[in-house]
Amino acid sequence: MTASLPPMPSAAVWKLSGAQVINRLRLVTGLILFTYVLTHFSNHLLGLVSLDLMQAKQGDFMGFWWSKPGTYTLLGAVLIHLGLAYWALYRRRSLRLKRWEAMQLLTGALIPYMLIEHVITTRVAFELYDLQDSYTYVLWMLFGGEKQALQAATLVFAWLHGCIGLHYWLRLNPWYDRVKPWLFALAILMPTLVLISFFQTGREVMVMMRDPAWQAQTIAAMKLPPPDKAAHLIALRDGIRWGMLGLLALVFFARYARNLIEARQQQVRVHYHGGKAVAVPKGRTLLEISRMNNIPHASVCGGRGRCSTCRVRVGQGAEHLPPPDANEARVLARISAPPGVRLACQVRPDCDLEIAPLLPAQAMPHDGFAKPEQTHGVEMEIAVLFADLRGFTTLSEQKLPFDVVFILNRYFAEMGEAIGAAGGAVTQFSGDGVMALFGYEREDPTYAAQSALKAARRMAERLEALNQDFSHDLDAPLRMGIGIHQGLAIVGEMGHGRATGLTAIGDTVNTASRLEGLSKEFHAQLVVSEQVLARAGIGLEGAARHSIVPRGRTVPLEIFALARALDLPLLR
Ligand code: FES
Repeated sequence: MTASLPPMPSAAVWKLSGAQVINRLRLVTGLILFTYVLTHFSNHLLGLVSLDLMQAKQGDFMGFWWSKPGTYTLLGAVLIHLGLAYWALYRRRSLRLKRWEAMQLLTGALIPYMLIEHVITTRVAFELYDLQDSYTYVLWMLFGGEKQALQAATLVFAWLHGCIGLHYWLRLNPWYDRVKPWLFALAILMPTLVLISFFQTGREVMVMMRDPAWQAQTIAAMKLPPPDKAAHLIALRDGIRWGMLGLLALVFFARYARNLIEARQQQVRVHYHGGKAVAVPKGRTLLEISRMNNIPHASVCGGRGRCSTCRVRVGQGAEHLPPPDANEARVLARISAPPGVRLACQVRPDCDLEIAPLLPAQAMPHDGFAKPEQTHGVEMEIAVLFADLRGFTTLSEQKLPFDVVFILNRYFAEMGEAIGAAGGAVTQFSGDGVMALFGYEREDPTYAAQSALKAARRMAERLEALNQDFSHDLDAPLRMGIGIHQGLAIVGEMGHGRATGLTAIGDTVNTASRLEGLSKEFHAQLVVSEQVLARAGIGLEGAARHSIVPRGRTVPLEIFALARALDLPLLR
């Protein structure tokens, strides 16, 4: 694939693009509506205590939304959110959606239609005819018959729609996975309790209504509008419902007309690297083109230009693409995307293009998190550490599989923590071996060498502690060999799918591995190259000095073998 570079992001990356403005408006209005639902639901929860308490505290919860600023805020949010939803529906070239996206779209379309009667017979009736829309009135109106089920479904749909939106918004944050179980529990608990409250208080009202005196007094207090005004309210409800349906039909008609026009226009060919080529009308995004042609393509944020998981490397034709807008440029900068990489959900090709999706279709949100530049592949000086357990094969033959796995997992946990605490990253646990890199996140050879030596010392400490824990379970203590070398290596994320991770390749890595192997031959716990000691600025008194010729090299390498890594000088 010939990689021609697209133009770099324009200088005005700080400006908001049209798509960014729309995304933010959708988010802000969505948050306003969710806050409204949350306060409304919180008020409902008091119904679990009593109807009187729920009614008495209504002003506290809903006071802001009843005020003029609150009303305009809410009304504005509804209109903008709805308008943006229609616009998004028009803009979407493909209606092939992921399950949760489809659910969000469906609930979003149904909620206004289902909710409008409730709004007309409460707030609008109050504003127009001074109807007193207390909870008693609302429950009396809704309870019994199909309205009750409709209202319950509306509550659930509104909550579900908001939760899906929040999930899509928050899931790109690294901390989200930690709090997700709690949020999920809350997402289930809240509507469940609200529904219990709804049915409990509704039944309470219906029982009280059996008392003719109470019923007469309560209905009088409601100030129900006379029949002609009630008919006006119903006409208003029907008019709005027809209006919404008409608007929806208009959107679909506009989509149909646009698709017809585009189908007659010149087509562009998109060639997937190593895969098929498709011809499509202009105007669709690369992500839509993938979806329309059943080509699996990652899109964690659903094409909103936020997650970066749809990213593709663009080959031929890239030079004809317009530069990324501010939003796309910001997302690409966040992941340190190299030149030639674009977001498939933001690029609408108007010429033939060659692309290669960079992530598997099952990419997860964390694939879109900010990453250091090194993950894309750079050559840099790092320290590489290999460690291996001595005689573990024999041990594993004498132990039950469960014991072997338990011991190994304890060992890996201890070594992983020791390496992490020293500033390194474990890149591989394989068999009973460990590989770790140091200094890959910053160009500082001294830091890399010192971190690797610190890690070796800590690993030896942890192994001693582990051997004490296992003293009654093992015939002989666990023994470990460590090799450390430093030099240039190619560092980057390598692998495929979920088996992708940071690693390094090159002579430095091979030599570090060889030093670990030599530790057995030299009866040493640690074998370290001269380069590491020189970079760390330390000498090793009492270490045996050897000279080896690494494979493929002619120049000998000076190495030092230390019986105990615990004898390494303490580094700060
Ligand atoms: S699908 Fe998320 S950025 Fe394109």
